[in-house]
Amino acid sequence: MTDQSTYNGPQRVLSGIQPTGNLHLGNYLGALKKFTDLETAGWEGLYCVVDLHAITVPQDPALLADQTRQIAAAMMASGLDPDKSTIFVQSSVRAHTELAWIFNCVARMGWLEKMTQFKDKSGKDAERSSVGLFDYPVLQAADILVYKATHVPVGEDQKQHLELSRNIASRFNQQFNAPNFFPQPEPLIEGPGARIMSLKDGTKKMSKSDPAENSRINLIDDADTIARKIKKSKTDTQGDMPESVEAMEGRPEVANLIGIYAALAGTSDEAVIGEFGGKGFGTFKPALADLAVNHLAPITDEMRRLLADPAEIDRALVKGAEKANALAEPIIEDVRKTVGFWQV
Ligand code: TYM
Repeated sequence: MTDQSTYNGPQRVLSGIQPTGNLHLGNYLGALKKFTDLETAGWEGLYCVVDLHAITVPQDPALLADQTRQIAAAMMASGLDPDKSTIFVQSSVRAHTELAWIFNCVARMGWLEKMTQFKDKSGKDAERSSVGLFDYPVLQAADILVYKATHVPVGEDQKQHLELSRNIASRFNQQFNAPNFFPQPEPLIEGPGARIMSLKDGTKKMSKSDPAENSRINLIDDADTIARKIKKSKTDTQGDMPESVEAMEGRPEVANLIGIYAALAGTSDEAVIGEFGGKGFGTFKPALADLAVNHLAPITDEMRRLLADPAEIDRALVKGAEKANALAEPIIEDVRKTVGFWQV
């Protein structure tokens, strides 16, 4: 069995975002903000727009490329620098799909049958889902391991998929008698932004697919819309802001707003309660709206600027694809040898 303590390859971060629908505050705090924080901290990082994952459910081919550019624009606007990090499109590195096939022959049906995201996404009619939707987490394992990435910043909803990636890595190493070939990728989940909930129901995660527009803050919302959505967000009848972390218990909507404030301000729930504990929502909500607007407005503006002339985005993606291919090629070559494929 490989574990991180015996794997001695380079430490490398990888994460991915699907080009489906508008990005929201959950995507930003659970993923994008972490990417830029890691880049600032000096980590080598690869960030991909996962278009192969997007087509596990039907997509309009006329829109997919533009949606892909939008995610790349959001990555750049959030602060990722294409000269420091590798920003690229998943389908432009063929090695992802090749490794996914090999991993299909390593992963077990029983492992995939346990995946709660498949159950959620396929709903009552799993029989009519694409095979790709069922196989989604195997491709995700390939995304990570085709670069031998050691760390994966994601929101909490990806925990189970990361566990599967670790199992696939271990089983590959064992099956092919190649100890330490693949690392055990570590999820980087902790922090107040890991699970941002709906503004209308604190027990449901903020999601692109929620039909209620007021349930989420989109990255492209203007200042007035953000302020209005926060003002209208659900709280409860218990009165003022809690005065301790324990008092957040049983108040999911309020806990969520405190978590959003903490994640945006780069602080903790305790610190937010220290400032606002016992005060009314009439004080807290406007402060949160100001913080959100001040934080997101420059990102939204930069996204709009980039999307007005996609040439800059495309240049970054071409360069990213070159860098990603150069890293993946020798690794997939080694995989081919390890598996025993014919070579001259
Ligand atoms: P996607 O596009 O659905 O989500 C992108 C990222 O946003 C996070 N996220 C959230 N974080 C906090 N609160 C929320 N309400 C919230 N909603 C979404 C997700 O956890 C994710 O980090 N399967 C991945 C895409 C992927 C991937 C990979 C990730 C494909 N290959 C390899 C890491 C490594 C996904 O669901 O993306």
